[in-house]
Amino acid sequence: MRTQVVIVGGGPSGMLLGQLLHRKGIDTVVLERRTREHVLSRIRAGILEQGLVALMGEAGVGDRLKAESYLHEGTLIAHNDQMFGINFQNLIGQSVVLYGQTEVTRDLYDAREKAGAEIVFEAEDVSLHDADSDAPFVTYRKDGEARRIDCDFIAGCDGFHGVSRRSIPAAVRTEYEKVYPFGWLGILSETPPVNDELIYANSKDGFALCSMRNASLSRYYVQCSLGDDVGDWSDTRFWDTLRHRLPDEVGEALVTGPSIEKSIAPLRSFVSEPMRWGRLFLCGDAAHIVPPTGAKGLNTAASDVHYLYQGLLQFYQEKDSEGLDRYSEKALARVWKAERFSWWMTSILHRFPDQSPFDLRMQAAELAFLRDSEDAQRVMAANYVGLPY
Ligand code: APR
Ligand code: PHB
Repeated sequence: MRTQVVIVGGGPSGMLLGQLLHRKGIDTVVLERRTREHVLSRIRAGILEQGLVALMGEAGVGDRLKAESYLHEGTLIAHNDQMFGINFQNLIGQSVVLYGQTEVTRDLYDAREKAGAEIVFEAEDVSLHDADSDAPFVTYRKDGEARRIDCDFIAGCDGFHGVSRRSIPAAVRTEYEKVYPFGWLGILSETPPVNDELIYANSKDGFALCSMRNASLSRYYVQCSLGDDVGDWSDTRFWDTLRHRLPDEVGEALVTGPSIEKSIAPLRSFVSEPMRWGRLFLCGDAAHIVPPTGAKGLNTAASDVHYLYQGLLQFYQEKDSEGLDRYSEKALARVWKAERFSWWMTSILHRFPDQSPFDLRMQAAELAFLRDSEDAQRVMAANYVGLPY
């Protein structure tokens, strides 16, 4: 079999790239290790930058997003019992959109199915071959049958644990990593959100986040220890911990209920350079990871997809490889700014085990400056709503 672009990974990155290319008549095959149901069972962040919203529109999958998403003009920041708002719309004339990442992926699956474009679920043992040559190919197994796809390019959209990044020789790769000394315990509950905007809270006992999916589905997180197991956290313990980390007036308004999903995620910052090796291009979590504070994971994957999509278009339509040759440089320039912002948000909002009294004062001063300075708020707003592509 032959195609123009093999896309390894059927998460948001791979599916968005596949849909954009398909609409321009560029032939792709998506190879996804898991089932559609499994991928859609993953609960991920729900804040979309306008750049991603625009890409979804360009991909022809913006209708449900437009109909069912919520515009968020700002966010709230709480520090112990004090809380202040940052209104992105008033400060810089831009907002973000709240729409579950699962729904982004679902819309892209539906569009690909409707277009009749190929996606192979439960593709096993995907292996990349001759990516540094002009004749790359990918092998995999499906229902026990060995298969091969020859292609022009391979898009490695298979996430942090995928095969693509590891297909680049270690001698070629430079990896940067910071592992945070805590995790996030998240729950989903069929309860009305405590506030119609998100609340990021730094309390003396640790971080908490109040988010949502819609008016009757709330998403909450509390910072937890790395050694914690989900089994250590009853719903009652979660709700008590969350309420304790929020300002009193918010905690009193909290509507609790049974969790319908509960999971712990570790936090890390990670970047692997370069994002290209021969005819292999890494996109999204395959190349970089951010802590979820500020919801930059999917949104940074989206800018990777934008740069790669533009580079492939330029190659196929104009026979010009300039966009592909500059892909890694352009993608990484924005990736590192998202890494910085996510690290900064994480640093000012969480309690670190080794924090000295001076460190705590620095955190308090950072939050006070953000509360009191419109300039500081503009800088945060510009990063939160998404820097230009
Ligand atoms: N072969 C085929 N598919 C694979 C392989 C493999 N060897 N390894 C992983 N995959 C699939 C996974 O099952 C997953 O569906 O690749 C997909 C990668 O999707 P994500 O991990 O979601 O990464 P990405 O598409 O880049 O999306 C980034 O999603 O994970 C969140 O926080 C992340 O918001 C960010 C966004
Ligand atoms: C979420 O809604 O899951 C969410 C929102 C903002 C974040 C992280 C997660 O920074």
